[in-house]
Amino acid sequence: MKPDSPLVILEIRTGHPDNLARFESDPPESFLGPELAGSLKGLHLEADFLFLFFAKSVDPQDFLARFPELELRQTHELRYDQWQDGAGSPPFSVGPITIRPVFGTDFGPGPDQAPKNGQDVANGGLGAPQGGPGIAKPLLIDPGLAFGFGGHPTTRACLEFLARLYRPGTTVSPSPETALDLGCGTGILALAAARLGAKKVLGLDHSHLAVDAANHNARLNNLAGSVTVKRALAQDFAAYPASLLLANIPLFVLRDLVELGAFAGRDYSIVSGLLPEEGDTFLELLSPKLPHKILDARRSDRWISYLIQPAA
Ligand SMILES: C[S@@+](CC[C@H](N)C(=O)[O-])C[C@H]1O[C@@H](n2cnc3c(N)ncnc32)[C@H](O)[C@@H]1O
Repeated sequence: MKPDSPLVILEIRTGHPDNLARFESDPPESFLGPELAGSLKGLHLEADFLFLFFAKSVDPQDFLARFPELELRQTHELRYDQWQDGAGSPPFSVGPITIRPVFGTDFGPGPDQAPKNGQDVANGGLGAPQGGPGIAKPLLIDPGLAFGFGGHPTTRACLEFLARLYRPGTTVSPSPETALDLGCGTGILALAAARLGAKKVLGLDHSHLAVDAANHNARLNNLAGSVTVKRALAQDFAAYPASLLLANIPLFVLRDLVELGAFAGRDYSIVSGLLPEEGDTFLELLSPKLPHKILDARRSDRWISYLIQPAA
């Protein structure tokens, strides 16, 4: 989408998470009709909410009338470059990494249709990205319609922890060589870890939109060799081996991850996406399962994030 093109987001409550499956598996024409489906840019499912993204104002009444269990909670109308409050976001640095948000690459609905190595990428006048990882180069992050161009306090805190972990001489163990990013969104944390020195990173998200964006961003930064992105439930990869676990993800998922032992056997975990009271709940859940040290905690206006190391 172009930075100045309209973005209309319908936030629809589905009544029950089970109702969501069809909206993912069926072609959009079959439930939206041809006109709405024609201007649909993407669809995201979260808990029992369905988010529909359009490139223009739409009238969803016919669609909603056919599915009485659906309730339109809000319609958001914005310009695409305001998505996630990103309008005019300047580049910013966290430790040695500079993040350059890039709004406006039309990279299509699937990984196979994404441009190769930045070939048709509007990257803020930088020219095509150069090959090979390197910390001096900005990390280009195109959010597409996914979460995480870097402006959100939870993402920012995770980036700060990453910069700390990979700063020479500041960690007990060597810096993690492998990382698992659960709920990778745009891939920003996975890509930052790779830029900072992780050799192999797996990023997962349950959202098609996120996987498309993260794959695109991996190619855009020439990091597709070290960062793999898959569409999957975080819970299904709880046991996947990696020395660093990144999880900027809601508490109900973290709760499952604790139960599944996802934090055991790691050198470090970075956890975010928690309101302060949820942070207490998370630590209460984690403590009996895994004795640990909180190496760092960052609190912003609404969020708390932790850098965790299992007790020796
Ligand atoms: C707060 S965003 C974080 C994105 C990015 N890691 C960042 O830090 O900016 C959380 C992401 O987790 C994904 N997510 C939520 N529940 C999930 C689950 N059970 N399995 C996989 N991904 C999930 C969402 O789609 C969303 O992209």
